Amino acid sequence: MIAIASDHGGYALKLEIIQHLKDRGVQVEDLGCDGERVDYPDYAEKLCKAVAAGQYERGILLCGTGIGISIAANKVHGIRAALCGDCYSAEMSRQHNDANVLCLGGRVLGPELAKKIVDTYLDTPFSFGESHSRRIAKIMALEK
Ligand code: RB5
Repeated sequence: MIAIASDHGGYALKLEIIQHLKDRGVQVEDLGCDGERVDYPDYAEKLCKAVAAGQYERGILLCGTGIGISIAANKVHGIRAALCGDCYSAEMSRQHNDANVLCLGGRVLGPELAKKIVDTYLDTPFSFGESHSRRIAKIMALEK
């Protein structure tokens, strides 16, 4: 099960991504907002705490640029959030960084590119390479 959330700046693209995930047969839960003006850190916190607690496999967050919500997401312990604007970054965010949250800019990306980025992110496994695992362990040690 994937969780998705956005502020008002990412809302329109979020609806497109939800429909795309449903069309793909991916189970998705929308944690808000419903299009009203909100503060993106509140939605980053809600989704990331749930992902970190193991309630969802992974998460997708959207705001206008993807920047604010990715900064907020990476403050939550256990979260490795990747802001991606292309498919190569989405692939590497999984292979090298084992990113558990994908961030997208609703005012930056067109829907077709955003869907490809989501597909790449969801379909790419972590490499489990020794060097990548070591670096991720060092990232997580920064939380202590
Ligand atoms: C909201 O207007 C906008 O600032 C937000 O969606 C995001 O782009 C922040 O990084």
